[in-house]
Amino acid sequence: MSTDSIPQNTIAVGDCIKTMRAWPAGSIDLIFADPPYNIGYKYDRYEDKRDDQDYIDWTMRWIDACVDLLKPTGSMYVLIGDEYAAETRMRLKELERDHKIVFRNWIIWHYTFGQNCKVKFNRSHAHLFYCVGTAAFDKWKVNKPPFTFNRQAIAVPSARQTTYADARANPKGKLPDDTWYLRPQDVEKEGLERYFNAQEDTWYLSRLCGTFKERVGWHPCQLPESLLERIIRLSSSEGDLVFDPFTGSGTTLAVAARLGRNWLGCELSKDYAAKATERIEHVAQTGQAMQTTLADKGIVKGKPKKKAEPHRSPNLRGKRRRAK
Ligand SMILES: C[S@@+](CC[C@H](N)C(=O)[O-])C[C@H]1O[C@@H](n2cnc3c(N)ncnc32)[C@H](O)[C@@H]1O
Repeated sequence: MSTDSIPQNTIAVGDCIKTMRAWPAGSIDLIFADPPYNIGYKYDRYEDKRDDQDYIDWTMRWIDACVDLLKPTGSMYVLIGDEYAAETRMRLKELERDHKIVFRNWIIWHYTFGQNCKVKFNRSHAHLFYCVGTAAFDKWKVNKPPFTFNRQAIAVPSARQTTYADARANPKGKLPDDTWYLRPQDVEKEGLERYFNAQEDTWYLSRLCGTFKERVGWHPCQLPESLLERIIRLSSSEGDLVFDPFTGSGTTLAVAARLGRNWLGCELSKDYAAKATERIEHVAQTGQAMQTTLADKGIVKGKPKKKAEPHRSPNLRGKRRRAK
C-alpha cells in the first residue's frame, strides 16, 4: 500500500489495533496515545477492568501497531499511569533493542488537584514516554535532528537570562525540563505564554477538573489542550499527520487541527467519535475551543449536581472507589 492511502482528518470508529493494521506502515508523523489505564474507569463502550496479563498483552499489541505506523522521521508519545508504566517502558526498551524506535525522554506530568487520599500520598503525576523513529539510529548533528524538533516553539528563558543577566546566556533560551508541572490557576488564561513564566522552565498545567470551562462534559478523562499543544508544536509541523489511537473527547486532534496539522484518530465508541468530530471541526473553523455552559456540565450556581470526577480515579462498576 502507498502512504497516500492513509485516511486523513477523520476518526475511524472501532478497535484501534484492527484499524491500524489495515493502514500502510511508516505513514504517520506524530502519534500521541492516552490509553485506558485499566483502573476501572467508566467509559460508555470500553470495560476498563481487564485481567492484568490480558491488559499487558493488549498494551504490547497496540504499541507495536503504533510503532509500525510511525515514519522513520516521526515521533511518538505514550501517556500512562503508575500501574503499567514499568511494563510500557520495558516494551519500548525492547522495541529500541529491535531497532524500531529510539527512546528520548521519560517525562513526568505533575498536576495539582490530585486525589485526596486518607492513608497514603496523593497521586499527582502521570508518565509520558517520548520516542522517535528509526532515522535517529543514523548519525546526526545536534542542530539537525532527523525527527521534527521545533525547539523555538517551546523554548523558555533560562535563569542566566532572567535572574543572573549572564552574558553567556543563549539568547534563544533553553529547553524545558522533563517534569511538566501544570497549575490550575494558569489553565484558564489565554495563550501559550500562560504556561511559560520567565522564571520557570517547568510546564504549568493542571488536569482538567469538572468545573473548568475547557471540559467538554461528556467524556470521563479529557486531557488539557495545553499538554497537547506543547507536544504538537514541538514534534510536528504544519501539514504533518497527527494520530491518536484512543481519541476520546478529541483533545489531540482538536489541537492538531487548530495548529494546521492533518489529524487522524481511532475510537471504540461511536458516540465519543461523533462528538469529538464536532469538537475538532468547531476548533478547525473558529480556532477556538468549544465552550460548554455550566448547565451543560450539570453545574448549577457553581455547585456540581454530581460530584466532579478526578482524572483517572478508579471507578469500579460505575461507583467511585474512595482513594484510601
Ligand atoms: C483515556 S481515554 C482518551 C482521552 C483523550 N486523551 C481525551 O483527551 O479525551 C481512552 C479512550 O480510548 C477508547 N478506547 C478504548 N479501547 C479502545 C480501542 N481498542 N480502540 C480504540 N479506542 C479505544 C475509550 O473509549 C476512551 O474514549
